Amino acid sequence: MKMDFDFAAWTDARLLTVEQALDAWVPLRAPAGLGDGMRYAVLDGGKRLRPLLVLAARESVALGQTHEALDDAALRAACAVELIHAYSLVHDDMPCMDNDILRRGKPTVHVKFGEAGALLAGDALQALAFEILTPQDSAIPVEVQVRLCQRLARAAGHAGMAGGQAIDLASVGVALNEAQLREMHRLKTGALLEASVLLGADCAPQPASAWPALQTYAQALGVAFQVVDDVLDVVSDAATLGKTVGKDAAHDKPTFVSLMGLDRSRQYAQELLAQALQALDQSGLPRTEALRALAHMVVNRNN
Ligand code: IPE
Ligand code: IPE
Ligand code: MG
Ligand code: MG
Ligand code: MG
Repeated sequence: MKMDFDFAAWTDARLLTVEQALDAWVPLRAPAGLGDGMRYAVLDGGKRLRPLLVLAARESVALGQTHEALDDAALRAACAVELIHAYSLVHDDMPCMDNDILRRGKPTVHVKFGEAGALLAGDALQALAFEILTPQDSAIPVEVQVRLCQRLARAAGHAGMAGGQAIDLASVGVALNEAQLREMHRLKTGALLEASVLLGADCAPQPASAWPALQTYAQALGVAFQVVDDVLDVVSDAATLGKTVGKDAAHDKPTFVSLMGLDRSRQYAQELLAQALQALDQSGLPRTEALRALAHMVVNRNN
């Protein structure tokens, strides 16, 4: 990493922009308190890793060029993927799924707003993501809007997050092998993280020549993220994580830790980090500092 790159300053500036945009776009007023549930689920919490990946990937391929419409598209993509992520957490925590009461240091949405309220808040957040990607009277080229929608839809649906969640629920008490587990992680968590990187690259002023390298980086990072999530569920505590711990074992979920143990899981996450960084090294992209720092953050995080 170049010594002159200040990751904290880079992150702070982008988080501010993303928070302001989410605050503006997630409605205050929606029928019968629906907006309260939506805002509760999205605002004031979360690492915002997916938005940061979108913006870092765009910057890695945009070569410092500004382009107002595509800057707008990237911010919209960053917020849209966070909305899909937030909706997935609301539903993941519901009694019919993981039945969790703590998320981002607060009672979960269904605890606060009831099950139907949580279901609808999740539904509405999902729809809002696509509304944000397709603003009326926008200078964002229509073909860019379509590409962003297609990529996010694919990553969120049956071939991505929702498909992975289905495997997760169908695998309770089932001993998956390593390939099956990797596939589950690739879908339920990896797909949205991979999409985040590629959504950012979609917003470049010119086609990215480094597409395969970005994809390799994103895929390795996506699986690493869920491996670390599985590790933290075992070794961390609720105060640090802002969510209940020990729940994978309690629910008999297949995880990397249950398959290969803690040490091997940690080692595997480091191997995936090395793969991700190597892909960036070989990408030929001139500005990969933020992507590199985010990869380190994903694997070496404590929450
Ligand atoms: C948690 O994701 C759920 C998984 C996909 C494993 P994050 O750890 O990114 O959650 P927040 O957004 O920071 O709360
Ligand atoms: C959730 O995985 C993944 C999605 C929400 C798509 P987990 O069930 O492991 O996430 P946490 O641990 O509750 O955050
Ligand atoms: Mg789950
Ligand atoms: Mg869960
Ligand atoms: Mg987990």
